[in-house]
Amino acid sequence: MISLRLSALLALASFVSAQQPVYGQCGGINWTGGTTCAAGSVCTYSGPYYSQCLPGSNPPPTTKPPVTTPTKTSTSTAPTQTSGGGGGVPPAVPFMGGVNTAGYDFTVYTNGSFSGVGYAPPPSQFTHFAGQGVKLFRVPFAWQLMTPQVGGTIDPNFWSRYDATVQQALASGPNVHVILDLHNYARWNNQIIAQGGPTNAQFTSLWSQIAQKYAGQSRVIFGIMNEPHDIPSVATWVTSVQAAVNAIRAAGATSQFILMPGSSWSSAAALPTEAGPLLLGVTDPAGGKSKLLFDVHKYLDSDNSGTHPDCVTNNIDTFTALVTWLKANGRQAILSETGGGNTASCETMLGQELAYVKSQSQYIVGYTIWAAGAFDTTYTLTVTPNANGSDQPLWTIAVRPNL
Ligand SMILES: *[C@@H]1O[C@H](CO)[C@@H](O)[C@H](O)[C@H]1NC(C)=O
Ligand SMILES: *[C@@H]1O[C@H](CO)[C@@H](O)[C@H](O)[C@H]1NC(C)=O
Ligand SMILES: *[C@@H]1O[C@H](CO)[C@@H](O)[C@H](O)[C@H]1NC(C)=O
Repeated sequence: MISLRLSALLALASFVSAQQPVYGQCGGINWTGGTTCAAGSVCTYSGPYYSQCLPGSNPPPTTKPPVTTPTKTSTSTAPTQTSGGGGGVPPAVPFMGGVNTAGYDFTVYTNGSFSGVGYAPPPSQFTHFAGQGVKLFRVPFAWQLMTPQVGGTIDPNFWSRYDATVQQALASGPNVHVILDLHNYARWNNQIIAQGGPTNAQFTSLWSQIAQKYAGQSRVIFGIMNEPHDIPSVATWVTSVQAAVNAIRAAGATSQFILMPGSSWSSAAALPTEAGPLLLGVTDPAGGKSKLLFDVHKYLDSDNSGTHPDCVTNNIDTFTALVTWLKANGRQAILSETGGGNTASCETMLGQELAYVKSQSQYIVGYTIWAAGAFDTTYTLTVTPNANGSDQPLWTIAVRPNL
């Protein structure tokens, strides 16, 4: 995978002296490559650090629609899709740029074990970021904090802490949305949901209880699971996703977005070929499929792990392929984790990535950077503001212009 990405970059580099390919960069601060675009595309300003060759002769892009736009003669309120693809143009949603405010997930291991107490993200961060135009916060939590017994009832003490944070985030702006992120990697104590571990009923009991509490709050988004990985049966995982969707709707939360994670750590690159084709078949008891968004993650470091300070790709190849797949199926996604170090390479490449993502807002409706919240300002991927209120360079240079 790494060598594939490098060869894609080299292929792009070889175009620099000639015309820029469709979706290639064609301008921006300190850009030294070509500024003319391949036939059928036009150099389009995305932000101070990035202009890009987008299909069409004039903005907005006029690529052929995947399928004819559904005529509005039916009584359904949203485009519907068949499981095999097709579909139509998804509804426009105001773009939501934002940030992960972590803390209640600290010490959830990737095997779904947990040994901590949870930390509240500082409340001041919500007004700080919302004041800059952030419209989306993601608030991760450990399953074990929410229900100390698997399948049991929500712990009222933890609920009062978590809900206080969610309410602070919601109160930071009238259009702010908040992702409730169950940060457990499809696992409880090293066992996989419905594949040797908790039953679907135990998993959906959690979401049913949370959905009852937020049934009337349309600005929460149910992030039903963070980063499933090493899943023996992706098809079985998809049945767990369907069960969670059904439980949330049955609890009365019928207006909210639900995020559907695929496999391979919610990989944006793997979605179109791995879990995506199966997740297309998940149905929404509330009607249509436009409230079911794919949940994807993508980092920019050498092994795509989000653990190194330096970036090696702007991921435009990955997101171009993802958007092509979303278009073909008339669907949308949210990029709920991406980020990098406060380094020159990440300041440039994350800015390019986010400008591209925002330019495709019809299909990728928002993102949340990893991470602020209870992380301190020495964390490798920190975007936590400094004590004096100033922001990290990565935030100022790469994120803020693309909110
Ligand atoms: C542009 O390049 C110059 C020279 O290398 C550098 O000093 C400057 O910081 C760069 N500007 C940005 C915004 O990266
Ligand atoms: C999960 O991983 C952590 C960290 O490696 C380890 O300490 C713990 O024992 C593991 N839990 C189980 C149930 O295997
Ligand atoms: C705020 O704090 C940061 C980090 O310590 C520092 O780099 C910056 O210069 C400070 N800004 C002001 C205006 O004091």
